[in-house]
Amino acid sequence: MSVLNTKTRFVVVFTILACLTLSLANCAKSGNKADKPDVEKEDTRPLRQRYSTAPQNWPKANWYQGVKQTELAVFISNPKPASEEMLVLGKALFFDNRLGNRNNSCASCHVPANYWTDKAIVAAGGGNRNSPNIQNSWYLNGNLMLDGRAATSAQQITLAIESPHEMAGKVSDLPKRLKAIVGYKPMFVAAYGNEDITEEKILNAIAAFSNSIESGKTAFDDFVEGDYAALSDEQIEGMHLFRTKAGCINCHNGPFFTDLEYHNLGYSLDFDGQYDYGRANFTDKAIDRGKFRTPGLRNVSYTAPYLHNGTVASLDEMVDLLIDSLPQLQGQKIAGTLSPHIKKLNLSYDERNALLAFLGSLNSSRPGVQPPVLPQ
Ligand code: HEC
Ligand code: HEC
Repeated sequence: MSVLNTKTRFVVVFTILACLTLSLANCAKSGNKADKPDVEKEDTRPLRQRYSTAPQNWPKANWYQGVKQTELAVFISNPKPASEEMLVLGKALFFDNRLGNRNNSCASCHVPANYWTDKAIVAAGGGNRNSPNIQNSWYLNGNLMLDGRAATSAQQITLAIESPHEMAGKVSDLPKRLKAIVGYKPMFVAAYGNEDITEEKILNAIAAFSNSIESGKTAFDDFVEGDYAALSDEQIEGMHLFRTKAGCINCHNGPFFTDLEYHNLGYSLDFDGQYDYGRANFTDKAIDRGKFRTPGLRNVSYTAPYLHNGTVASLDEMVDLLIDSLPQLQGQKIAGTLSPHIKKLNLSYDERNALLAFLGSLNSSRPGVQPPVLPQ
């Protein structure tokens, strides 16, 4: 023993000290355990097991500072369904190009079989915005249009009918026009109880139909409702990444995967190189420059191209761009200030694929709505 050199002696003393400290710490820990369980302990169970429970018990999401924390949720239907007669009238008006200059009806750009989009980069007619899927847009009330400039359905429909890029009509002309189409009379009687045709009734009937357009149940909904076999392991991993490492849940949340807020993702330039200031176009506030409303993500796999300007051609590309913190890659100029929540994400190729697989679990079946026979 006496031959221990200084180094060895140091190691021995250090080891004894370390052991003491550790056992003291353990003591303190087990002392604590008596009053409260150790919640910090990492949950090492497989993700499928950790998610096979009600959402309030899911692993904690990665919430960014200042974000209103809203969990993902199952699909909900419009709580105020319209009468069958109102929907028949609204549907006819939705498909009727006689509301405008006869080039377009609502259904020209919102084509049912294309998940209510036209698949074009920007809507035909010279506008600078991509035609959105209008499923579940009742939920957007107060925030309609990609910049939120329409507070009500009536305002949104008036904008569509009167826009030179859309239907190039005039709402004030419509009562006269529709009275001249005798087939509309019984439909107004059925919907409203009398044959009076007014601007308000026309807008209200189109709104009723538009707000009845919904997506359907998805594998994601089945899973949240307790069918824990509805998602594959890869989709569950994707959902976990969506809520944690990838941070998507900070903006895409609730039953429709939108926070109904406005964010600047940096894609400010239109296809023709002009700035689209988004929300600032009508609020005139510098802080709103380049901001657009978070779009919902149900059926997103089917609604390419993406973003308000239709510049992103595929969902794979969209996710790759998000992972790379978006715009700079494309040489896009930013109007205003990029959202602080858009960051470079450290995702592996497998994790990127899992995120895409999860987005696929938000798909419902293709709408089977047929065009009506229009009244003459
Ligand atoms: C020429 C193509 C075109 C026509 C016709 C058209 N839309 Fe649209 N629709 C669009 C585009 C593009 C947007 C996004 C506009 C924007 O943000 O400025 C939009 C937005 C909407 C929205 C809001 C969706 C959201 O995410 O905020 C609804 C609802 C809607 N349209 C319904 C209708 C109805 C109802 C009609 C008929 C009265 C109609 N549209 C006619 C292209 C069209
Ligand atoms: C800061 C809020 C925010 C975060 C975080 C965010 N998004 Fe988005 N997302 C948006 C907004 C806003 C748009 C629309 C931007 C535009 O049109 O210019 C969008 C667009 C999209 C689109 C295109 C949808 C369409 O219909 O055009 C997809 C897909 C998407 N996001 C998925 C994701 C995924 C996956 C994540 C996580 C990796 C994510 N987002 C993170 C706000 C966000």
